[in-house]
Amino acid sequence: MFYVTTPIYYVNDEPHIGHAYTTLIADALARWHRLAGEDTLFLTGTDEHGLKVQRAAEKNGITPQEQADRFAVRFVEAWRSLGISNDDFIRTTEPRHHRAVQKLLQACYERGDIELGHYEGLYSVADEAYVTAEEVPELERQGRPVIRMEEENYFFKLSRYEQALLDWYEDHPGFVTPDIRRNEALGFIRQGLKDFSISRTSIDWGIPLPWDPRHVTYVWFDALTNYLTAAGYGTEDPAFPARWAGARHLIGKDILRFHCVYWPAMLLSAGLEPPRAVHVHGYLLVGGEKMSKTRLNQIAPASLVEVVGVDGFRYHFLADQRFGPDGEFSFEGMVARYNADLANNFGNLAARVAAVVASKCGGVGPAPSADSPLAEAAGRAFEETASAWERVAPSEALEAPWRLIREANAYLEANEPWKMEPGPAVEAVLGDALEVLRLVALLASPAVPGACGDLWQRIGLPGSPEDARLPDAAVWGGYPGGLPVRKGPPLFPRITV
Ligand code: ME8
Ligand code: MG
Repeated sequence: MFYVTTPIYYVNDEPHIGHAYTTLIADALARWHRLAGEDTLFLTGTDEHGLKVQRAAEKNGITPQEQADRFAVRFVEAWRSLGISNDDFIRTTEPRHHRAVQKLLQACYERGDIELGHYEGLYSVADEAYVTAEEVPELERQGRPVIRMEEENYFFKLSRYEQALLDWYEDHPGFVTPDIRRNEALGFIRQGLKDFSISRTSIDWGIPLPWDPRHVTYVWFDALTNYLTAAGYGTEDPAFPARWAGARHLIGKDILRFHCVYWPAMLLSAGLEPPRAVHVHGYLLVGGEKMSKTRLNQIAPASLVEVVGVDGFRYHFLADQRFGPDGEFSFEGMVARYNADLANNFGNLAARVAAVVASKCGGVGPAPSADSPLAEAAGRAFEETASAWERVAPSEALEAPWRLIREANAYLEANEPWKMEPGPAVEAVLGDALEVLRLVALLASPAVPGACGDLWQRIGLPGSPEDARLPDAAVWGGYPGGLPVRKGPPLFPRITV
């Protein structure tokens, strides 16, 4: 089972390209694993409890539930408009989640890992986390003010899990990727772990503790549990263990400590295994800064889709940012790369092949040759794409088919089929080029599903690349020949700004 999740996003605000970035990677990964014939579950959703959401509601003069309802829809709509193929959308205000959180709490409580205590200290509402005095200047610089809190809280005994976590990391080298993030998580653990509070009495927008309903569950304990809820935890669903064993979380580095330290400890406490992997990416920066509400530097996905289209948007964020380090978003860079990779390389290959098939083969696509000089490059492209998705390296997964596109363009330029007489020689060249188009449509479909589906039909293939199954479909020679080939309008119209 391949079970991939995104963070669940706060409903205090609108979706922006940072949220879209994680969600797109999860989407492309899920699409790749579906192509490979794996049983796939792709989850995203919204995080609806806690002080941050309650405050946003107060500011908007509505109830927290109304706030959640209004903004959850914004995420659902944004993902629909980007072609996100999630199988489930979880909202933490749903009854199924309420049940799962209470079950997990009860399990940790019965294990003796939850105790009543008293807390006095500083709290960052933006991060929904207690912070130390040393952290305050940097948080304030980022426009994330802290407040004083003093309450009776239940605490999760995280300090008991230091060794268990270190052992888990040692035994599961791929638990957190890339390595730089794994080391960061290990650094946290080795510094020594403090118990953290998992309940609040100062607010009531949350899920009550089963054994003491004066307290609501701390929003992070609540939120992390969403991954279990959607897998069927707390129900009789027999598929739960298989789903959970395949769980992989995609997150940004801002929430590493919660996912890589708190979460595995909570699970171990409840007698469950930590997820199979946590894949952590860096920030998309705008003007050198992380996007944030206070800086007013958030970019809505729709404003870019207007310029480069859905596929152009998807391609940009998957191809341009390496998974792991921070990367600066650049509008000019996005347009330049769209024109180079999509309009020129990919779009031109598709257009010129269709044009020559029309003029030299009467619009009927010939079959590829078994011993084509492109066959080896095509085989390599598949191997490299597969291995890159396996490592959760989307930009590398796209480099491979684009290398193949360039080789096919070079092959056409070397052979100049547009100058050849109709007959077997020109058919051999065009059959090979059509087979490359079929393979590129297949390999690039997780990233740019719209254009790849379109291309698939233009070269006469039935259905869409999504109906194909890897690895068989990637074997050279799959294009049968004898199919009608249509040119159609440019797959990726050139953009001038
Ligand atoms: O933290 N660059 O929700 P959130 C890259 N509800 N990714 C970004 C980004 C940026 N500039 N800005 C946001 C929460 N993201 C909690 C999560 S999970 C159990 C609970 C993405 O709305 C990235 O995935 O603040 C980051 O981790 C997430 O949005 C934070 O979303
Ligand atoms: Mg955030």
